[in-house]
Amino acid sequence: MSVFKPTVLWMTGLSGAGKSTIAYSLEKKLQSEGILCEVLDGDVLRNGVNAGLGFSETDRKENIRRTAETAKILVQNNFVVICSLITPTNDLRDSARKILGDKFKLIHISTPFEICKKRDVKGLYKKAENGEIPHFTGVSALFDIPNKSDFEINAQNESETVSVDKLYAFLRELSK
Ligand code: ADX
Repeated sequence: MSVFKPTVLWMTGLSGAGKSTIAYSLEKKLQSEGILCEVLDGDVLRNGVNAGLGFSETDRKENIRRTAETAKILVQNNFVVICSLITPTNDLRDSARKILGDKFKLIHISTPFEICKKRDVKGLYKKAENGEIPHFTGVSALFDIPNKSDFEINAQNESETVSVDKLYAFLRELSK
């Protein structure tokens, strides 16, 4: 029997905050211990099950709904699921929480806007500021600071390993 309760760690944060890096690294650690674990990554899902959805309010809502329903199937089958999606508003986070119930844990990857913009890993902030990408989160679309996260990771001030270890410890604590 796994020491971890099936849980959905739903990571919210700006583009470039480090959500997916931490998600895949935690997945690797859990899988190496034989734990059923799956990352649902916004960028990946948008090429598959969520293809065709854009970044309007309505499309983001549908993006979150489909992802939460997918996570629900996995968590019901004993997976630890790590969702890595911007999920920019409290309403969207609440809608995922509603689908997943008490399995849902909101993790805020709180790297500040200025740092994400400066890093600009995918070159998207520059494009957004030049008006080439409409509704870009943090630039021309809203990002609410979460009003009730279950855990916060400030990836700006710590290494990936430290962030992953903290989330691992958080999961263990939940499973006691
Ligand atoms: S969410 O807002 O609906 O939760 P999601 O996490 O699936 O977003 O997708 C975000 C990713 O899509 C970003 O990391 C970025 O690579 C890409 N992207 C493309 N256009 C936008 C946009 N207008 N706003 C935010 N991200 C965008």
